[in-house]
Amino acid sequence: MQIKVEGGDIARCPAKAIIVNLFEGVTSPGGATGAVDVALDGAISQLIQEGEIKGKEKELTLIHTLGRIPSPRVLVVGLGKADKFSIDKVRDLTATALRHLRKVGAESVATIVHGAGIGGFDPEEAAQAVAEGAVMGLYRFTRHKKPEQDEREIHELTVVEFDANKVDVLRRGVERGAVLGEAANHARDMANEPANVLTPAALAEKARALAEDTGLEYEVLEREEMERQGMGAILGVAAGSTQPPKLIVMRYKGNPSAPVAVGLLGKGITFDSGGISIKPAAGMEEMKGDMSGGAAVVAAVWAAAKLRLPVNATVVVPATENMPSGSATKPGDVLRAMNGKTIEVINTDAEGRLVLADAVCYARQQGLSPLIDVATLTGAMQVALGPGATGFMATDDSLAAKLLRAGEVAGERMWRFPLIDEYREHLKSDVADIKNTGNRYGGAINAAEFIRFFVEDTPWVHIDMAPTDNVDKDKGVWVKGATGIPVRTLVHLLRSLADAE
Ligand code: BES
Ligand code: MN
Ligand code: ZN
Repeated sequence: MQIKVEGGDIARCPAKAIIVNLFEGVTSPGGATGAVDVALDGAISQLIQEGEIKGKEKELTLIHTLGRIPSPRVLVVGLGKADKFSIDKVRDLTATALRHLRKVGAESVATIVHGAGIGGFDPEEAAQAVAEGAVMGLYRFTRHKKPEQDEREIHELTVVEFDANKVDVLRRGVERGAVLGEAANHARDMANEPANVLTPAALAEKARALAEDTGLEYEVLEREEMERQGMGAILGVAAGSTQPPKLIVMRYKGNPSAPVAVGLLGKGITFDSGGISIKPAAGMEEMKGDMSGGAAVVAAVWAAAKLRLPVNATVVVPATENMPSGSATKPGDVLRAMNGKTIEVINTDAEGRLVLADAVCYARQQGLSPLIDVATLTGAMQVALGPGATGFMATDDSLAAKLLRAGEVAGERMWRFPLIDEYREHLKSDVADIKNTGNRYGGAINAAEFIRFFVEDTPWVHIDMAPTDNVDKDKGVWVKGATGIPVRTLVHLLRSLADAE
């Protein structure tokens, strides 16, 4: 889909549908909605008087214009109460409205920027939200499916602004929003892909394509190189799989004069069967998404490069399957991580922290700081938060504050959890330096403490996205399947780290 910004009167726009809006309780529409109402001889205000249009949030009213204006359809979107309006709603309502218009077959759509008028939002931010909502809301994963008979796409979206002076600002917002939305969709594409297609090698290829698209440095460490570097933790997870593991590295240098780069580490388990500690059958197919953290950091650095953020960031994704087989790591086995620390594997299903241990060692050897790891790590975090927030732990309060803020800006709620030193007790092993599972309680914190054992004193944030990697129904910008969380949050975090340099 192409998104354009144009100055002019939306009532004269020839798109197959035009979108206007109404706040709850408004009885005589103003602005663009008012202009369209006049052009339709008062059709909108009549429907308001009759009580069909109330302006309630998510209310969609499709009016057929029957030749009164060039566009055959007007969709009036209810924005809800003006004092409850938000940028998140701009994104969500844009997504919902466009999905509706796609269903009725409108192949080109024009819209005004919700919230930029009496909503009082910064026009650039509102335009960005419209573009994000459009790109994310119209996402579909159809690679392996014959299209439904009358399935059509919206090919063109025109953002129309009456005030010609605002057009440039809106264009900037739309461009940034489109990149952010596409980045989320790249991550979704990787996570939605079945595991027989998205093998570690295929994930590495996808990362390479995105690196080439933006001129990023790209490197893959193959099994032999991992052996040379002593990455026994990731190799131990890969031991049960016939798919060769890959350690994917991408380097973005947006600020060549700065000496350090942020480390963005993502769990890249392309399928998590649990290994010898095998998972129950019910829902196991969801574990094709166990590389969502890896996909998120790859997509985020792609967006950072597209947006030319003045920051350095290096992505490290340890990618492998976690499978049971005659050669698989067994409970009780001892692995040696890259830093020489030994790990007793109690449960082979706690594999994410193992691959991240080596990724953290590699990142520290590369001098990356701070470290930000992103992983679908624990069912415990999912139980704790449910689908409404992504959990994280941090050793650095200012980094934590920036992450919370970045999540707010993105509309991806983040929630901080504590690190609790004492829980390291639970990870004491009789035969190795550490074991990979603790006791039943505080499972998400035990997992974070395990990773911290390798992070040592490097400033660090650990994002456990198990609660939010997937949604079970379409809702606003979220489309059933992989969410693309926390790609946009990471990009905003990189923006704030760039500001601070
Ligand atoms: N990938 C899973 C965690 C997960 C669960 C992600 C649900 C998304 C949704 C992870 O590898 C795992 O299996 N964790 C175990 C750890 C346990 C064995 C200590 C868990 O949470 O049950
Ligand atoms: Mn697991
Ligand atoms: Zn896993």
